[in-house]
Amino acid sequence: MPLTAAWKDASALRLRDPGAMTDPRASWDALYAGGGRLSWDMGKATPVLEEALDLARPLGLAPGASVVVPGCGYGHDAAALAALGFAATGLDFAPLALAGAQARHGTSVRWLQEDWFTTAQGPWDAVFDHTCMVSMPPERWPAYAEACARRLRPGGLWLLVAFHDVEGRPAPPHPAAPEDLRRLAEPAFEVLHLACARRSHPRRAGRETLMVARRT
Ligand SMILES: C[S@@+](CC[C@H](N)C(=O)[O-])C[C@H]1O[C@@H](n2cnc3c(N)ncnc32)[C@H](O)[C@@H]1O
Repeated sequence: MPLTAAWKDASALRLRDPGAMTDPRASWDALYAGGGRLSWDMGKATPVLEEALDLARPLGLAPGASVVVPGCGYGHDAAALAALGFAATGLDFAPLALAGAQARHGTSVRWLQEDWFTTAQGPWDAVFDHTCMVSMPPERWPAYAEACARRLRPGGLWLLVAFHDVEGRPAPPHPAAPEDLRRLAEPAFEVLHLACARRSHPRRAGRETLMVARRT
């Protein structure tokens, strides 16, 4: 199923851009309640997680470190982090996303039903984001980047996977040019890596950017 399918579900629900709705939490939950296959959900962790960790290990991110996955959905990335020995937190504000995550992955992960913009949890050693920020309208990205900075300890790592190519569709997910990502990060982060992801899922190959940025 192409990447666009879940967003067709969204259109059917008149939720063209869940992140832009007045109640985005309810909008996302409605998508999970739809019962259909969610095309952003790959059924397993993104292979880009391994690529990000290979870049993060020489920067000091070792098993035992705390890593949060904002917008974790069904929690595959958080569960993979826990299996590697990280103290993983899967955060999502949609109750049905977290219920699905718990059902799939149990208690190896600390699940938090909270909003990334308002949670008081943290600080963490690293943030790993795959398709959370780019599911939101770009006008929300500066606040999202600020939230990442606030929830990381100094020296903490922001590991971000973002689409730079969304096949010409207006939204969502929204495309993020690498230089946009650099501009977002630079007020509070040192950008250490910014390049096309090399280990994307085959359906996303050549369309994702991986950024590794360190909290200053
Ligand atoms: C496109 S899905 C991606 C899910 C998962 N990261 C994946 O790749 O399978 C985006 C997720 O972000 C969550 N989300 C969106 N805005 C959020 C916010 N402000 N706080 C917490 N979760 C949020 C949604 O509920 C949804 O589960």
